[in-house]
Amino acid sequence: MKKFPMLLDCDTGVDDAVAILLTKYLNTLELVAVTSVAGNVEVDKTTLNSLRVLEIAGMEHIPVYPGAAKPLMCEPITAHHVHGENGLGDLDLPLPRRQPEKTPAWDAIYKYAKKYKGELVVIAIGPLTNLALAIAKYKELPGLLRRIVIMGGAAVGGNATPSAEFNIYADPEAADMVLTCGAPVYLCGLDVTMPAYLTAEELDELAALGTKQAVFARDVMQGILKVYRGFKLPGVCFHDPVTVLYADDDSYFQTDHVGIRVETKGRLTRGKTVTDLYSDKQMEHNAYIVTKVDRETFKKRVFEILANYGA
Ligand code: RIB
Ligand code: CA
Repeated sequence: MKKFPMLLDCDTGVDDAVAILLTKYLNTLELVAVTSVAGNVEVDKTTLNSLRVLEIAGMEHIPVYPGAAKPLMCEPITAHHVHGENGLGDLDLPLPRRQPEKTPAWDAIYKYAKKYKGELVVIAIGPLTNLALAIAKYKELPGLLRRIVIMGGAAVGGNATPSAEFNIYADPEAADMVLTCGAPVYLCGLDVTMPAYLTAEELDELAALGTKQAVFARDVMQGILKVYRGFKLPGVCFHDPVTVLYADDDSYFQTDHVGIRVETKGRLTRGKTVTDLYSDKQMEHNAYIVTKVDRETFKKRVFEILANYGA
């Protein structure tokens, strides 16, 4: 089956790390580049972590382009309490053998979009600052993308605040620019990523596959697992990994064409992805929202891919 080229924009923390591991054995997408952005931790660390995880995955041929150190119009926020000081669960990892590229992320996104002439899929699993800067700088960019698949937002609820999910809350202005840029945009929000969890026991089953990558996936998730247990959740939500799997094969998910805009002014609601599922307002249907996943199929795909490393 023909594979489409894919660029992964990430704020490499623990779930971004597992998402990167999954990109090696997808069915319909081929990873061609990684761009890093500030989010879970500072951009120098997310860049370093992306290089580290690509090395663990045996994908040192994939270039990493460093991106924005802060959001478009607000102060940066981080999530060290979830991802650790180094962004990878404070695992003791060697420095990567490689350096990042000199080209900034927003120029790299445009470079690859032009190279692949309408076939590039961008998966964004961190704050959307890099994509927004690329769209602002290169007006023809949205027309050059096959689609943008985002981990972010939610039709209902939030995790950074009661209204807003972290990636959107970190840069709401950027998120609204991306959602209204004209490219086909697919939002994997908390509605679908919270049910895409693995329990502590399933993480241990994963490590029992015995590949270095499967053991790393279990180990890097131990810190965040404790945080989720504190919220009485059944396991650790694979926010970024399930977004990558959706982009690869959406057959075991529910997707709806709806109106989605981002609140940028609300005192209590800044960063909320206001999603029009069935209101009288009938917002313009500018994006797609993913709301359901078959968890068993999701889990099977994670195990299949991480077992593949040992094949
Ligand atoms: O809200 C979850 C999202 O925020 C994930 O992408 C996680 O890595 C953080 O970036
Ligand atoms: Ca992320």
